[in-house]
Amino acid sequence: MSVKLGGYDFYQSIGCPKYAMAPMVEQSELAFRLLCKRYNTQLTYTPMFFSQSFVDDENNRKKYWQSTPDEGPLLVQFCGNDPQVLVQAGKLCLEMPHAKESVVGIDLNLGCPQRFAQKARIGAFLMEEQNLIREIVSTLHRELPVPITCKIRIFKDIQHTIAYAQMIRDAGCQLLAVHGRTREQRGTVQGLADWDAIKIVREHIKDIPVFANGNIRTLKDADDCIEHTGCEGVLSACGLLDTPALFSGVNHDNTKLALEYLELCAAHEPPEHSFMTGHVFKMLKDKVKPYNDLKVLLNTARTRQLMKDVVVELGFREEKEKMYK
Ligand SMILES: Cc1cc2nc3c(=O)[nH]c(=O)nc-3n(C[C@H](O)[C@H](O)[C@H](O)COP(=O)(O)O)c2cc1C
Repeated sequence: MSVKLGGYDFYQSIGCPKYAMAPMVEQSELAFRLLCKRYNTQLTYTPMFFSQSFVDDENNRKKYWQSTPDEGPLLVQFCGNDPQVLVQAGKLCLEMPHAKESVVGIDLNLGCPQRFAQKARIGAFLMEEQNLIREIVSTLHRELPVPITCKIRIFKDIQHTIAYAQMIRDAGCQLLAVHGRTREQRGTVQGLADWDAIKIVREHIKDIPVFANGNIRTLKDADDCIEHTGCEGVLSACGLLDTPALFSGVNHDNTKLALEYLELCAAHEPPEHSFMTGHVFKMLKDKVKPYNDLKVLLNTARTRQLMKDVVVELGFREEKEKMYK
């Protein structure tokens, strides 16, 4: 029988990653995870799955679940507010194709600030229901065969944040990701993440690995954040969407990366075409600016091949520009 590792033993067993891709609905799908892993992303999360739909709807589960035997270490993120449903979702996901090889833990989303999350009483809208969070984390810790990890947001009041993080750790969380923004910092009022708050949480949580999240746009940001906060590593979301090779520290050409991503999509088709459009557009948004026709074509391309044609054309035009210069 394999032993369930916790805290730093768990962290060591997955190779002590420093550079992680944050969970992203519709954007941290397999093809994008594999692309970023080629460029030094060392730990990835799936997009958030709704635990109730994951349990109830087999078609939904099959459609959105993606993994390969060698993509690990992967954390599977769920949201929900019913401990037993979350346990069932966790158990089911461990039976999905290649989960045994790739999944190293189940993550609980405690950070989603969107309106639908408020309606559903999930994500960051559980922050006032700490007894329930304690019950969820301790139940998952007790009943799942893999470690449980959590991703939280901060409160305005640092003492409140410290007590919250300690409660989650005491309930059985084995790796804590701290997004240094409050629940109110979202959309157009997102503002900067508070690395000082993350540093203080880290100082009060010494016995499990802590990851910092927010404002990571370059490898230097990542290393500065690790140094400033004392965390084991960082999670990046928007930074990786713009620059998938961010953690390599090398300025790779996004046109080539977009083509590489589309090749990965050929082998591992994203569950929805719009995921692909989102990625290619974000990678190339600055590059297509001067070419309105390509911008329109990229937005309207309904197949992967059409998208590839546009990216190849962009590459030709860039080469031409270079030659003229
Ligand atoms: C497109 C997108 C989707 C996201 N989906 C999730 C999600 O499924 N679960 C989650 O915990 N956070 C989600 N987030 C939040 C990110 O994981 C991260 O906490 C946030 O973007 C801050 O990191 P950043 O400053 O590197 O972007 C999402 C963010 C983006 C941009």
